[in-house]
Amino acid sequence: MEVKIDQPSVVGEYDDALQALLQLLWGDGFLSPGGAEEIRRLLAGSDIRGCNVLDIGAALGVVDQLLVEEHGAASVVGVDVDPTMLRQMDERIARAGLADRVTSLCVMPGPLPVADDAFDVVFSKDSIVQIPDKRGLFTDIHRILRPGGRLIASDWLRGGTGEYSPQMMEYFRLEGIAYNMASIEESVEALQAAGFVNIQVEDRNGWYLKLARRELESLEGPMYPLLVERLGADKAGHFVTNWRQLVMVVERGELRPAHLKASKRS
Ligand SMILES: C[S@@+](CC[C@H](N)C(=O)[O-])C[C@H]1O[C@@H](n2cnc3c(N)ncnc32)[C@H](O)[C@@H]1O
Repeated sequence: MEVKIDQPSVVGEYDDALQALLQLLWGDGFLSPGGAEEIRRLLAGSDIRGCNVLDIGAALGVVDQLLVEEHGAASVVGVDVDPTMLRQMDERIARAGLADRVTSLCVMPGPLPVADDAFDVVFSKDSIVQIPDKRGLFTDIHRILRPGGRLIASDWLRGGTGEYSPQMMEYFRLEGIAYNMASIEESVEALQAAGFVNIQVEDRNGWYLKLARRELESLEGPMYPLLVERLGADKAGHFVTNWRQLVMVVERGELRPAHLKASKRS
């Protein structure tokens, strides 16, 4: 696989095998860890009832469904660069009977085709890492939020700055998807530069380390025969190697999931 750092996500990089693996590990419709429980944790203390929400990196749409069904959002627009995944999102949302409240929007990397002050909340789960220019992104999110609006996001951040370790480079190679990582400090600076206030960060490295170790145990053990059956021996072996490397870089503190919250001044 190719290392894809500091460049936009390419349509199709979440191929069928990667989507299948991630959903086996993380649950139906989820391409990020923690399921509904982690969304609850991210939204703790942040009431979105009655809000119009834009979700960046909506993918298969299960998160958007939860934002409406469980968390009471009035509406959600889920944006993504990948039209194939958004078709799956539309089917899921139609099955759930939510098509009048949840819509998908296929976008190009870059400024969002959305009016100023249009949303109460911009939400994102583990997708900002795929967007290279954080300051440009946060400035654009600030533009589309109404005064007093909130950004609520979870993202894959990095520990440290500068050159990546050989372990991280190998992790990027095994993953094969676009990684544009920022540290907690760099993310806070970019949010401040975009005009955000009330910035809060929660480091989720410890939580994910425990979960990632369990994921690896499962991939190496009880889930392995199913992986081979569904994806073939080569892909199954690749994903086990990938997860060993993932656990290593989470242990080293170089891959750090975190929650980011910030507000636009009223
Ligand atoms: C790790 S997945 C997370 C998906 C979903 N939020 C979840 O938690 O299941 C990242 C998603 O971000 C999308 N993405 C990458 N670059 C993007 C961009 N510039 N704008 C919107 N979505 C993007 C990818 O296509 C992918 O669906």
